[in-house]
Amino acid sequence: MNFSDSEIVVSILEEKGYGSTKDIKEADVIFINTCSIRDHAEQRVRKRLDYMQSLKKKNPHLVIGLLGCMAERLKTQLLEEEQVLDIIAGPDSYRDLPRLMEEVESGGKAVNTMLSAEETYADIAPVRYDSNGVSAYISIMRGCENFCAYCVVPYVRGQERSRDVASILREAGDLFRNGYREVTLLGQNVNSYRWTQDGKTTGFPELLEKAAMINPLLRIRFATSHPKDLSDELLLAMSRHHNICKSIHLPVQSGSSRVLDRMNRGYTREQYLERIDALRIVLPDCSISTDIITGFCDETEEDHSETLSLMEKVEYDYAFMFRYSERPDTLAADRYKDNVPDDVKERRLREIIDLQQKLSYQNNKMDVGKTFEVLVEGFSKRSAEHLSGRNSQNKVVVFRATGNKPGDCVPVKINRFTSATLLGNAV
Ligand code: 5AD
Ligand code: SF4
Repeated sequence: MNFSDSEIVVSILEEKGYGSTKDIKEADVIFINTCSIRDHAEQRVRKRLDYMQSLKKKNPHLVIGLLGCMAERLKTQLLEEEQVLDIIAGPDSYRDLPRLMEEVESGGKAVNTMLSAEETYADIAPVRYDSNGVSAYISIMRGCENFCAYCVVPYVRGQERSRDVASILREAGDLFRNGYREVTLLGQNVNSYRWTQDGKTTGFPELLEKAAMINPLLRIRFATSHPKDLSDELLLAMSRHHNICKSIHLPVQSGSSRVLDRMNRGYTREQYLERIDALRIVLPDCSISTDIITGFCDETEEDHSETLSLMEKVEYDYAFMFRYSERPDTLAADRYKDNVPDDVKERRLREIIDLQQKLSYQNNKMDVGKTFEVLVEGFSKRSAEHLSGRNSQNKVVVFRATGNKPGDCVPVKINRFTSATLLGNAV
């Protein structure tokens, strides 16, 4: 999401004649795009600002701007706390950046953290400045209104709004014509995508199918699906198109219905598992990944065991695993105590990570002997004789280079694996 925002910012600034540089020491203006989702992310930005201070000492004309969620959350407070900052711009204010920069040029500091109910940056063609030339992200909606108790996103990214279907399809088509072979449709909760025009409403499954029909050689991925809104219609749409990747990110957060209720997730353990059953029936070769938060307010050992047992039941291919970090002004911060001690959070997280490693390893083991179509993204990090890409299930596959290039789709038979990578040979 953040990366996608940075591509929009670069586009807006290039339009006004600014150029970007890879060498930070060459820059006249530096923007830091921020995330507020966990305290840790904000602490890292604070450290980065110390470094900016040292750059500004060498070049007093350097302009430093802070963008995104942290700008939204802390607003003018940041200008007082971080003297190094000249510009603060929230996630719906990027179009205003050229004006904010002019304001700074005429002396002073500039702030815009107005959230909008409409801004989707639909007409802005993002600049793919750090791309492999093969895969790209397309933002299809912004904001979130689910108000999960632990989460700061609804406060910092505002109301949910979907982007015009035609502009999404145009962007995907342009990417394909420019050599891209995979797009990932992005939103906090893609299942609630909805665009109404001339009395006709397009939902996410229909958008997905339209994107898939641009060209059979263009792979389509999407993230994130909220389990409470994962419809049969979406699963069936996925099953109808070879180029809609068989991989779904379905954050569970906890395996305990009691915790899920306190998290305000809108589903129980049983309802989540029912969705997994439906998914396995309609899409038997689909990989499933998830997000898990451990140590949420009042989480007991029994709740924790339920998370572990749910992980075993689902057999996730991959998981992003976090210890709960209280975020100011969220429902949980107002209502509950962050009362699971740090050492307990740490131990539970360790158990979750260890189990996931085992599950990833077991899942990858079952792929040995299978042949997958691998979309080549580039050379392997370890060896220039090997190419690296992903299969439809979003697993990284490394294989010996045999004259293929990025963007090619190569059938690869798997003969070895680790818990993170499949290895094989082109067939
Ligand atoms: N503490 C820990 N993890 C969090 N996430 C969101 N908010 C918090 C928080 N306060 C995690 C969730 C979400 C992912 C993007 O970040 O698992 O799905
Ligand atoms: Fe946060 Fe929940 Fe919205 Fe995801 S769905 S962004 S976890 S509030």
